[in-house]
Amino acid sequence: MLRRGKPTPERRMLARAAAVLAARIAAGFLVALALLGFGTYRVVLAEQHTQAEQQLNYALAYGNPAAATPCLWLFVVDKGNVQHPQQSPAGFPLASAVADARVGTTPQQTSVTISGTQYDVVTERQGGVVRQAVLDTWYLQADLDHLVRALLLVGLIGVGAAAILAAELARRSIAPLADAYARQRRFVADASHELRTPLTRLHTRAQLLLRWKHDQLPERLTEELHTLVRSACELNDVVEDLLISAGLRSDPDRRQEVDLAALAAEVIEAECPRLGSRVIVMDATGDPGLAPPGAVQEAAAISARESPTTVRGAESPLRRMVATLIDNAISHTEPTGRIEVTVRHSERGIIELEISDDGTGFDPVDRERIFERFAQSGHQGSHRFGLGLALAREIAADHGGTIHAVGRPGEGATFTVRLPAA
Ligand SMILES: Nc1ncnc2c1ncn2[C@@H]1O[C@H](COP(=O)(O)OP(=O)(O)OP(=O)(O)O)[C@@H](O)[C@H]1O
Ligand SMILES: [Mg+2]
Repeated sequence: MLRRGKPTPERRMLARAAAVLAARIAAGFLVALALLGFGTYRVVLAEQHTQAEQQLNYALAYGNPAAATPCLWLFVVDKGNVQHPQQSPAGFPLASAVADARVGTTPQQTSVTISGTQYDVVTERQGGVVRQAVLDTWYLQADLDHLVRALLLVGLIGVGAAAILAAELARRSIAPLADAYARQRRFVADASHELRTPLTRLHTRAQLLLRWKHDQLPERLTEELHTLVRSACELNDVVEDLLISAGLRSDPDRRQEVDLAALAAEVIEAECPRLGSRVIVMDATGDPGLAPPGAVQEAAAISARESPTTVRGAESPLRRMVATLIDNAISHTEPTGRIEVTVRHSERGIIELEISDDGTGFDPVDRERIFERFAQSGHQGSHRFGLGLALAREIAADHGGTIHAVGRPGEGATFTVRLPAA
C-alpha cells in the first residue's frame, strides 16, 4: 500500500497513477451501468407498448361499452348515436378518428393528450358501426417513472461504491511498484555508500604513491599514477552523484540553492583546454546583447552578484547535466566554431539555460530520439546515440524541469534546459 510520507516526485507519480486507474475503473463501471439501465428501459418500454396494443385490440374485439374496466373504455358510434361507457374521460370519442375510420376498415392507432393525460386510441369500423377503444396510459407512465428513479438510485450507489472499490484496488495494485522504487533507491544509496570508503582509500593510496619518492619514479609510472588518481577522482564523483540523486529522490528537503549561471561558467572554465580556437560566449544577464566573443564570464563574479538564476537541487548532477551539453557542443563544432551559452530568468519562475552552437546539427527526425539511451538514428545509415543526453534529461526531470533540442544538419543545434527558479 502507498504508505504516508513526504511527497517525493515518485510518490506523487504513483498517487497520480493510482487516481487515474481508479477513475478509469469507475468510468468503465459507469458506462456499463448506463448501458444496462438504457437496455432495461428500452425493454420495459417495448413490453408496455405491446401490452397496451393487446389491451386495445381485445377491447375492440370483445369489449362492452356498458362494462367499467379501469383505465380502458369502449365507445360505439352507430349512425350518429354514441354509446358512452361509465366514467369515461371528456373529449371522446375522437371525432377525427371516427371520421377517418368511416372511410376504411383497418384499425387506426393514435396517441392523444387531453388535459395533461396521455391516451392510446384505436378506432375501427365494423360494418356500419365505428368502435373506439381508449386506454389511459397513466399507470404505464408511472411504472416507467418508478423504473427510471430506481435505475438512477442504483446507478448512483453503484458508481459511488465502484469508485471507492476502484480506489482501494488501484492503491493495492500500485503498492508493489512503490516498494520496488523504494528498494531500488535503497540499493543505489547502500551500494554507493559502501563503494565510497574503498574508493577514497584507493584515491589516497594513489596520491601517496605519487608523492612518495616522486623524483625517483620512472616517468612512465608517474604518468600512470596520475591517470589512476584522475580515474579514482572521477569514480568518486560518479558515486557521489549516485548517492546524492538517491537521497534527492527520497528526500527533496536535501536540495540546496544552485546558481545555474555560476555552474555553467565553472563548466566552461573547466573545458577551456579543449576549446582550441572555438569561441564560447556566455551571457548570464538575460539581456539580448551577448558578452564580447571569446569572453568567459568569471564564475566568482556571477556568484557574487544578486543572481536571479538560482534553482533548487543537487549541484553535482546539475553540473554533470551542464557538462554533458557543453561537451556535446564542443564535440559537434569545428575547431573554429562558436558556442553560445545563455542563462536567463524567463517566464514566471523559470530559469532557462540555452546552449547553441554552429556545428554539425542533427536531423529533425532525431529530435526526441537523441534523448533515448543508445537509440538508433532515424536518419539513413547513421549511427547509434550515446547515454549523455538521456541522463541529462533524467537529471532535469528530477529537478522538475525539461530539456528540448532543435537543430538542422549543418546549421548547428540549440539545447534548452528549463528549471523552476528557487
Ligand atoms: N550539440 C550537438 N550538435 C549536434 N548533435 C548533437 C549535439 N548534442 C548531441 N547531439 C546528438 O545527440 C546524440 C546523443 O548525444 P549523447 O550525448 O546522448 O550521446 P553521445 O554524445 O553520442 O555519447 P556519450 O554517451 O558519450 O555522450 C549524439 O550522438 C549526437 O548525434
Ligand atoms: Mg555526448
